Amino acid sequence: MIVERDDSGITEITTRRGIYIKAFDIYRDIGGFYDYGPIGLRIKRNIESVWRSLFVDKLGAMEVETSIMLPEPVLKSSGHLDTFTDPLARCLNCGATFRADKLLEKFYEEKKDFASLASIKNMSKEEIEKAILENKIKCEKCGKELKHLEDFNLLFKTSIGPFTADSGFLRPETAQGIFLDFKALSKAYPIKLPAAVAQVGKVFRNEISPRQQLIRLREFSQMETELFFDPESDRFDMNEISIEEVIKKKVEFIDAGEPKGPRSATIGMLFEEKKVPSKQFATLVYLCAEMMDEIGLPKAAWSFREIEKAELPHYSRGNVDIEIQTSYGAVEVAGIADRTNFDLKSHSEGSKNDLSILSYGKKVLPHVVEASIGLDRLMFCLLDTLVVNDRARGWKWLRLNSNVAPYKYAVFPLQHDDELEKRAHEVEHMLKEMKVRSYYSDTGSIGKRYARADEIGVPYCITIDYDTLKDRTVTIRDRDTAEQKRVRIEEI
Ligand code: ATP
Ligand code: GLY
Repeated sequence: MIVERDDSGITEITTRRGIYIKAFDIYRDIGGFYDYGPIGLRIKRNIESVWRSLFVDKLGAMEVETSIMLPEPVLKSSGHLDTFTDPLARCLNCGATFRADKLLEKFYEEKKDFASLASIKNMSKEEIEKAILENKIKCEKCGKELKHLEDFNLLFKTSIGPFTADSGFLRPETAQGIFLDFKALSKAYPIKLPAAVAQVGKVFRNEISPRQQLIRLREFSQMETELFFDPESDRFDMNEISIEEVIKKKVEFIDAGEPKGPRSATIGMLFEEKKVPSKQFATLVYLCAEMMDEIGLPKAAWSFREIEKAELPHYSRGNVDIEIQTSYGAVEVAGIADRTNFDLKSHSEGSKNDLSILSYGKKVLPHVVEASIGLDRLMFCLLDTLVVNDRARGWKWLRLNSNVAPYKYAVFPLQHDDELEKRAHEVEHMLKEMKVRSYYSDTGSIGKRYARADEIGVPYCITIDYDTLKDRTVTIRDRDTAEQKRVRIEEI
């Protein structure tokens, strides 16, 4: 069997099967907005369930749902109003806009100037502007030289209430609502530090150049966990997680500024080397690694990356990201950040409410470490990584594991026949009763049905044939090997 990775296969599958669809496309492709079809939504929800089982159930985080709308003072305090910007290059001739750092990346890539390319990460916005002007980089649309650069704030702004001057913004991260509610939660629940609060939900960023399908969207979902702790306490109370399992977990890790790629290390080693600043941070690294394993991302396809100081978000003292190798190159899908007490302190000052809490009889303004995972981006990278271009079979398929596959089983009658169809419906009903994700199909040839099931990553197909009517056995076809086994219905 000749099996190889195919770079363009994913778009073919996602388009044909409506896994995700450009939003409002019948009017105009605005860019950065996608809808999910039924199969895509199942995969997305399954990834979310894996996240929930680790960060909510295993870590014991309180899961909340907070407001998408944030009034201006919140984002003033959080720093987003002043610093949540990307460098924008605007063509004064045709009006086209570009993300300046991405233009510069492309320019150096085309010149094969890899040293300058690597240095972009450490450039200030002023340096990027200077490099664009000095290199006389041209507008990609009309070819005229780009002369105007500015800082563009990515917040989507609206107004709250009729005829008011109250500005509101769509949240750019789910984390802020968690910080605002933490004090109220600590009063309503017996919070002792460390304590985690988690949330999955929509966020909005007015990206300058949305592109690469689900990788850069203007509306997307984040799965975020904020782990609050007392930096002066040594307590490690992480619900079902032991420090032993955290430190012995092996990961691939790229040190800041290291061009050679990842090295293997245990999280314990990274902690000793201070690459991972605290046991709480280590716990989030561990959970993120578990998550990548559980969604079936091949180990060779991803690694952690230590972020250079110049690249850190305004609230962070240290970041370790997760990067996946995709057909678009390396893509960041998650960030683990040491936010210190930056947010609680800023909101204490901004709201004039003391957000410190009592933990073990001590007044503490907790520090926070955060794991922020982009759901849509992770889903896209997972699908992109798992496409198999199978020339022997003659179709492309997705090697999704049972945790994330939209269905675990497909149930087929071999051909149109009342008895076979009736028995197949019974098997499908039995699986549904067992709460196993499955679907029934009698449309098209059996070969076509296998192809359609493989294509969306269904691990097993059950076929009901004439032997089933005699001895209650069915065939189970394994997607990865295409081998078939005969088993009794009761053994499925
Ligand atoms: P980038 O550098 O790609 O803009 P970021 O560093 O701004 O990403 P974070 O602010 O750390 O990203 O956001 C946390 C996570 O949210 C990211 O790791 C990513 O998975 C996701 N994310 C961020 N921006 C987008 C976007 N525009 N579209 C889809 N997902 C996104
Ligand atoms: N909460 C991290 C981020 O979205 O930037």
